[in-house]
Amino acid sequence: MRQDHDTRSRFFTYRDGRLYAENADLHDIAATWGTPTYVYSLQAILTALRDYQTGLDGIPHLVAFAVKANGNVAILRHLGQAGAGADLTSAGELFAAQKAGIPPERMIFSGVGKTEDEIAMALHAGILMFNIESEPELETVARLAAERGRRAPIAIRVNPNVDPKTHPKISTGLKQHKFGVPWEQARTLYKRAADIPSLEIRGIAAHIGSSLMDTAPLLQALDLLLGFRQYLQNKGLAIPYLDLGGGLGIQYEKQIPETPSEYSQKLKQRIKDSGVTLILEPGRSIVGNAGILLTKVIYVKKNDDKVFVVVDAGMNSLARPAIYGAYHHIVPVAARDGAPQTVDVVGPICESSDVFGKNRSLPPCRPGDLLAICSAGAYGYSMASNYNGQPRPAEVLVEGHHGRLIRRRETLDDLLRNQIVQ
Ligand code: LLP
Repeated sequence: MRQDHDTRSRFFTYRDGRLYAENADLHDIAATWGTPTYVYSLQAILTALRDYQTGLDGIPHLVAFAVKANGNVAILRHLGQAGAGADLTSAGELFAAQKAGIPPERMIFSGVGKTEDEIAMALHAGILMFNIESEPELETVARLAAERGRRAPIAIRVNPNVDPKTHPKISTGLKQHKFGVPWEQARTLYKRAADIPSLEIRGIAAHIGSSLMDTAPLLQALDLLLGFRQYLQNKGLAIPYLDLGGGLGIQYEKQIPETPSEYSQKLKQRIKDSGVTLILEPGRSIVGNAGILLTKVIYVKKNDDKVFVVVDAGMNSLARPAIYGAYHHIVPVAARDGAPQTVDVVGPICESSDVFGKNRSLPPCRPGDLLAICSAGAYGYSMASNYNGQPRPAEVLVEGHHGRLIRRRETLDDLLRNQIVQ
């Protein structure tokens, strides 16, 4: 019996046994642009953004998309046109956000290691605020602003010591993590910042972790930040912005987290009387389930009882399973008759961790068949590399019936572009 498979997104659906992104047949996309290719649904992306925006409707807010999740300029441009800002972590991301036309007054600069060049570039751009993560960084930003006769808008990123109950490699808000500063130090830093004329205190920031399945820790962090804001206001410091970071998870496997609209409505309830402008920095929950990695079966290999489906995408294209042991659902692009088989879906890279799925139940696969690796829109392309001499994949953005190439597949020349051969 032919089965349709759950793609984790209502924008990737089967029609007559063929998988579509919106109204575009993924077979056509593979035929036109080859594989492996990231394919995104624009509607899925904009719907997730709108869910945040409508959930927060009625209170002053800014949804600053975390560019680290997906830095494609075409996607950033659509997000910017729909009212999103950008959460940045490097000059490279600032450059991309500028190219995408996102207004600087909607940009936030986070990260523990901002260099002087990066700070200077962001000052010049006129961003909304720097989320300061240490005392030496505060002094550097103050000095660079003073040298330019400017005032740098800042927030201090506190490390609220709230357990996000997520994967240890992506939780950030506990004492042992390098991010932000502890409460006690935050008090000192605000006091110091208030005395420096080249700084303008604008906010308080936190980001406790990523891929949260339960929003309770985020709400707990919000309450702590609101309390701290009250403390600072009592000391005479106005704090117009409160930045709660990103972190809301998406469905990868079975567990389904709260939606952006449920989450943002809860936030709104809690802060509606505070007068603060709420900033969120979601990444994964906007683009994660809006993208799949389209890949082609190269070989089906049997070692004793074990069946390996070898595909043309590898951990260089999508690193999450190899790095975090992350689960990504894998579905056939043509739903097929025939008893399902239990297989491991693996890439061509010479590492045992180059496995996209272990013991997966898939219809019988043949070389040339297409598979979709689901929930790949966030931290997919942005973490891709050239390991094993693999060119990075192409990216296609689907809008209705049409797919549009938004990043060319790398060529062999691209691999050698920066090498100096004498
Ligand atoms: N804001 C800050 C300061 C962040 O560090 C992050 C993510 C975000 C916002 C966005 O978080 P999101 O809404 O996407 O959870 N590579 C890992 C995820 C690392 C997240 C790092 N920071 C992964 O593939 O799961």
